[in-house]
Amino acid sequence: MPKTARKPLDAFVFDAYGTLFDVHSVTTLAEALAPGRGAELSRTWRAKQLEYTWLQSLMAGDGFVREDFAQVTAEALDYAIAALVLPLDEGDRARLAAAYLTLDAFPDAHATLAALAPRPRWILSNGTLAGLTPLVRHNGMEALIDGVLSVDAVGVYKPAPQVYALAAQRLALPPARIGFVSSNCWDAIGAKAYGFTSFWINRTGAPIDRHGPWPDHVLGSLGDLEGSDALPPR
Ligand code: LAC
Repeated sequence: MPKTARKPLDAFVFDAYGTLFDVHSVTTLAEALAPGRGAELSRTWRAKQLEYTWLQSLMAGDGFVREDFAQVTAEALDYAIAALVLPLDEGDRARLAAAYLTLDAFPDAHATLAALAPRPRWILSNGTLAGLTPLVRHNGMEALIDGVLSVDAVGVYKPAPQVYALAAQRLALPPARIGFVSSNCWDAIGAKAYGFTSFWINRTGAPIDRHGPWPDHVLGSLGDLEGSDALPPR
């Protein structure tokens, strides 16, 4: 069968933070609170947030209970403020943490989700349902998303295979029939290792990570999902 005639996928699962929603949309507020340092604060915050999720997944056990993503995000913000020696007070910190509930969707997110219908479109995220639900609502995506799954159901963060299994079980499909879409390369690799058909959205032309199986597809934007093997030609 020619490559272009491959059977389109049956369902899509999207990462939330960084993929559908731009974590760096906090930069505007960060810049207002710490002029000249906003982008650096946002970058340090995000990097530390992810690092803490990986560390806590490894640490979780009898002596340590994994914290949820809201807690880890708040701690990563505290670290970033301390590391950059920024004169931000408790009120500033609270405003920045709250900004996570109103992150902007990437400009092509709505059209892409709409184009994938009627196939099921789900979110699978490290986030809590209490953090993800307002984000979907804030961006007017309720009709474009069929359901939201949080890692809290399995008590460990991505890229643990139990997390990806949550989506395969909920959709009741073989993993390879599910397209998993993430702009976080390590997440796309984790999804591929689990068995999904994996798409890495590489918006910045970053080099690919080397620690696991490469994603099946590397695309420059969410919009490129249309026209890829994921969808039948119009
Ligand atoms: C998420 C993280 C990876 O939404 O951004 O799961």
